[in-house]
Amino acid sequence: MVTVHLNGKDYEVDETSDESLMEQLKSQGAEIVAACGGAGICQTCAINVKSGELTEKTETEEMMDLPEGHRLSCQCRAKTDLDIDLIY
Ligand code: FES
Repeated sequence: MVTVHLNGKDYEVDETSDESLMEQLKSQGAEIVAACGGAGICQTCAINVKSGELTEKTETEEMMDLPEGHRLSCQCRAKTDLDIDLIY
């Protein structure tokens, strides 16, 4: 398990799980808007990564041309402890 610090709260997520970071955080009560349900289209689940490592960007994320440090939490999984902020 790794610790994810999100908007002032800590969550424990399983870095070996196939579930996205968004799914794991939402299942613990984090209020992440997922307008497209995790399809990688709406960007409402976007996060700013202040520290830590995530899985490689998916093709969907590459196509989005996100600003430096921004990721879609529905498209990635944690590899290490993370310090992140929600953008929306
Ligand atoms: S939930 Fe829509 S892009 Fe992640």
